Amino acid sequence: MAAAASGSALEVLLKKVAAQPLASGQNRNFQTPNKPLRIGLISDLNSSYGSTSYGPTVERGVNLLLQQKPDLVICAGDMVAGQKTSLTDRQLAAMWEGFETFVRRPLETAGIPLLPAMGNHDASSQQSQGRWIYARERQQASRFWSKHQDAVPSGLTEADIFPFQYAWHGPGLFLVVMDASSSTVSSAQRQWLTRTLNAPQRQQDDLCLVVGHLPLTAFSQGRARAGECIHDAASLAAELRQADVDLVISGHHHAWYPAEALGLRLLSLGAMGSGPRRLLGSSSASPASLTLLDWSAADQSISERTLNLNSFSEMQTDQLPTTIVAPGFAETRRRHTQWQRPQRG
Ligand SMILES: [Fe+2]
Repeated sequence: MAAAASGSALEVLLKKVAAQPLASGQNRNFQTPNKPLRIGLISDLNSSYGSTSYGPTVERGVNLLLQQKPDLVICAGDMVAGQKTSLTDRQLAAMWEGFETFVRRPLETAGIPLLPAMGNHDASSQQSQGRWIYARERQQASRFWSKHQDAVPSGLTEADIFPFQYAWHGPGLFLVVMDASSSTVSSAQRQWLTRTLNAPQRQQDDLCLVVGHLPLTAFSQGRARAGECIHDAASLAAELRQADVDLVISGHHHAWYPAEALGLRLLSLGAMGSGPRRLLGSSSASPASLTLLDWSAADQSISERTLNLNSFSEMQTDQLPTTIVAPGFAETRRRHTQWQRPQRG
């Protein structure tokens, strides 16, 4: 699919890209009037449990973002390496400090805000007998992101339990982040989603993105089983369809696939870090990647480019299976990465 993993010249070039510091608070008033919006989409950065550092593809990805200068970056989860109850609070805090050092702060310094969704390794919502199994991880994630909440550009709404679920309204964009850090998206959260997607801040011409870590259906080998996708996805998908959501973005399956399923447009992001996985029906692993989405509100068009972080080449959809079929999961079809937002009325 991609060229050999050389890219050394480009890699050196990217490493030289320096973050341009902004005056304190400069990125809080997010404004891009009449110009296309570029959104960086990343996911699944974490290394092994407890790790406070990141692999080379994460470093390349951050450098690529600094070079490409998207207006914002959305991370679909798994920023740190938790989901292990033996990790101490000190270890959990150290992991988030590692994320701050290697990922969040360099982007913020360059004026690129990062909006997170929680992954199972960040703050799993899995419960046992009505209690969070990873309660301390959720506390640490909450503490870290609350500390950095004021770095999110103005437009945050429905953010009572930021960073777990919230909405953000920017120019021409309505983003809703849900807590899909385990397979359970509770009925309370589903009601919140329906209410939030109909919030008065959402404008008719806004691109509406919903982001959650686990996907609505199965994409990759080893992940086509209960616990790795949202449970009772059909009813949630019906709610998202009813609310005219334009694109549902997920991580966790470590394999890039622009999809149509359940009457929705989906995007499964590749992992930015380690652990590449094969798509169902594919014999090759989906390499580390990130996606750049350009949104033109003026002509209501979207263009997605996904870049291989080993070769720096653009990944091509014709190399992907045309359909993905897994027993017990919604059938998925490959879709185009250049598309027009449908007229809503
Ligand atoms: Fe995950």
